[in-house]
Amino acid sequence: MSGSPPKPASQNPALPDFWDQRFRDGVTPWDAGGVPRDLQDFAAAQAVVAAGVPRVLLPGCGSAWEARFLCERGWDVLALDFSEAALAAAMQLVGPWRDRLMMADFFSFAAQAPFDIIYERAFLCALPRRLWPDYAARCAELLRPGGQLTGFFFFGSEPKGPPFMIEPAALEALLASHFELVEDRPVDDSLPVFRARERWQIWRKRG
Ligand SMILES: C[S@@+](CC[C@H](N)C(=O)[O-])C[C@H]1O[C@@H](n2cnc3c(N)ncnc32)[C@H](O)[C@@H]1O
Repeated sequence: MSGSPPKPASQNPALPDFWDQRFRDGVTPWDAGGVPRDLQDFAAAQAVVAAGVPRVLLPGCGSAWEARFLCERGWDVLALDFSEAALAAAMQLVGPWRDRLMMADFFSFAAQAPFDIIYERAFLCALPRRLWPDYAARCAELLRPGGQLTGFFFFGSEPKGPPFMIEPAALEALLASHFELVEDRPVDDSLPVFRARERWQIWRKRG
């Protein structure tokens, strides 16, 4: 026999147990406790340019502050998370929009119709790097042509995580076959865990 024993589920961020434990212990340094300003600005701009109601997916939604905010603006929201404890927190926060929450795995849930927008915040960086190609392919599968993968990306070169950093060139390599980068700017209201490392980006699906 060789090799190290498998990690317990609570130490493997690919599994719900890892996130359940952190939510139950109240150790959630990624939780914005509100709606990031860049998303507020984006939603305001969409209200001006979009003809219909945007259909948006929030994968790995955690406490889902943004789900409530977007529901209140009339958006067609689906927020999902595979952690029971995360969903319990989200249920407390979304008020009357509980039916927009789903306990499910991003990689395997049965999606109905394509989405206009996938909102990214602290989800890609929560995934072990081996899952990143699957993330890119799944986002492309779920978005309509011209749809947008929009939100916050966490940059850097430190190997340890979560949160797992990505180099700008590696993100480009990950997404370029399906998406083009159409907006990219620094973020000025980051939490300490992400400060000076996150950027607001919009990737438009080709086709
Ligand atoms: C770092 S937290 C971020 C939560 C939220 N996006 C936020 O900004 O507060 C990552 C979340 O992704 C969820 N998650 C990780 N892998 C997932 C998967 N395969 N399917 C659904 N949710 C997942 C975790 O349960 C956790 O709630």
